[in-house]
Amino acid sequence: PRTWRGIIEEYRDRLPLPADAPVITLLEGGTPLVPAGHLSEVIGCDVHLKVEGANPTGSFKDRGMTMAISAAAGEGSKAVICASTGNTSASAAAYAARAGMICAVLVPSGKIALGKMAQALVHGSRLLQLDGSFDDCLRVARELAEAYPVTLVNSVNPLRLEGQKTASFEIVEALGAAPDIHCLPVGNAGNITAYWRGYLEADKEAGTGRPRMFGFQAAGAAPIVRGSVVTSPQTIATAIRIGNPASWDFAVDARDSSGGLIDAVNDRQILAAYRLLARTEGVFVEPSSAASVAGLLAAHEAGKIDPGQRIVCTVTGNGLKDPDWAISGAAKPETIRPTVAGAAEALGLRQ
Ligand code: F0G
Repeated sequence: PRTWRGIIEEYRDRLPLPADAPVITLLEGGTPLVPAGHLSEVIGCDVHLKVEGANPTGSFKDRGMTMAISAAAGEGSKAVICASTGNTSASAAAYAARAGMICAVLVPSGKIALGKMAQALVHGSRLLQLDGSFDDCLRVARELAEAYPVTLVNSVNPLRLEGQKTASFEIVEALGAAPDIHCLPVGNAGNITAYWRGYLEADKEAGTGRPRMFGFQAAGAAPIVRGSVVTSPQTIATAIRIGNPASWDFAVDARDSSGGLIDAVNDRQILAAYRLLARTEGVFVEPSSAASVAGLLAAHEAGKIDPGQRIVCTVTGNGLKDPDWAISGAAKPETIRPTVAGAAEALGLRQ
């Protein structure tokens, strides 16, 4: 049986990694494209979920990180740094550990999910909490990497987006062509940029077509939708709590050249989609990831989705990273006597 070799070995001819760089990989990519039966019925379309929470550190960031850390290792870099809302730092920490590098991460204090904090710590990175937003963290990380001998592994590092574009290659291979519409959450706007690039390259090479790109920001952190920087972004979707996206212009280009849209979804819509995915599709994602599905549902309700189309929603991160929202919105566990009668009674079973 053929085994998956990670995105660098699978797509080496389409990735600009120097041939002599060591490949630092956790065999990321090759994630499931799961048909979403319930969503398909609701929308009247053929909807699939690209489940990026199935990556080694539980998010799509691993696709870009294998590239950035491999290149850094090839250049002899001993230390890497990133700003993060949690997932980039988890991924950087894991890949840096594997490469034997020092890793430092800058995160907004009190605004990253517990599981992501655990990941950064367990892999041995230096976790610096900053009294400010992600945008402040990114500014500090960029300036630090300019002044000191550390490599920046945020998505402003072009190799990150190169790695992330491989998700589009996988989708085109699985479906035989690009979908009609691709939905995804937008934070720092790197991923929508990367997917668009991947679809364009696949189309150029094999005529697989181009989807319309639908990006969704959280309503309290929607600078691209508003057309201006948000100085104090607010949303429960902490992964996309970003007020000044680094890839802003690229995202606008992806939207406009694809005939797509970038819209906002509020926290209530995000949490509703989050629960719907868990309860009807069996897919547990983190709240930010549900923005893609929340946006699709809203676009459908607004009459913007013609029936019969093929749609892919990327769900970007694993639900276990941020369990608080799963627990707070659910029924309380019940305590029973350790007997069959006790269990049957609690479940309301009758013989
Ligand atoms: N979904 C999740 C789960 C994320 O962690 C991120 C970004 C996004 C969506 C948005 O992707 O930034 O490329 O538009 N997380 C970054 C981080 C900012 O630091 O982990 P984007």
